[in-house]
Amino acid sequence: MARRGVLLALEGIDGCGKSTQAGLLATALRDRGLEVVLTREPTDGPLGQQIREYFQGPTRYLSAKEELNLFMADRREHVEEVINPALAEGKVVITDRYYYSSVAYQGALGLDPDRILAQNEVLAVRPDLAVIFTLPVAQALARLSGPPQRPRQVSEDPVYLERVATLYASLKGPHLRHLDASAPPPAVHDALLHLTLEFLETAGRR
Ligand code: TYD
Repeated sequence: MARRGVLLALEGIDGCGKSTQAGLLATALRDRGLEVVLTREPTDGPLGQQIREYFQGPTRYLSAKEELNLFMADRREHVEEVINPALAEGKVVITDRYYYSSVAYQGALGLDPDRILAQNEVLAVRPDLAVIFTLPVAQALARLSGPPQRPRQVSEDPVYLERVATLYASLKGPHLRHLDASAPPPAVHDALLHLTLEFLETAGRR
């Protein structure tokens, strides 16, 4: 049987640069001969697309609980259809957002973060390593308002994002790392790659 792969999750507030970093990390690991699956939440499946449309809309009319249920339903499919099959084939899976997004973002709407975490740990496979990008909210919002211009999402509100950032900062665990993402992208990439390779080394995957 193929050796189980590795699941890496990248997390952080809107504008922290994790999508750019996910792409750079995937390329760097492929260059080192690893088989990498790069994926994201909300997913590109039907539920994920529905969620994206909702967040690009003018108002946030769903309750926190309804939002959480949507993200969890999307995640359930993500795990069953993308993540678990790739792990069974021994691949390195990089997911741009995972269940810590629900803990931070739906927690910031008033739901109990510990409960969100517990519900998700039942539903979704635990990442081997989760990296949470940290940077000041003002810097993240400035990045989002720079080019390329794109419509603002309803979640990109400074007061809300401060609460999201605080919840991310409170997350701790042996498989969780907080990484300063305020430096220019190449420097953040170097730090992320270093951390990832060190992890893979220790886990005996390289
Ligand atoms: P984002 O990664 O910003 O998507 P895009 O590619 O459209 O920039 O995710 C969209 C929003 O969804 C973002 O504000 C975070 C939010 N989100 C949650 O609130 N809970 C979750 O569980 C997930 C996965 C995302």
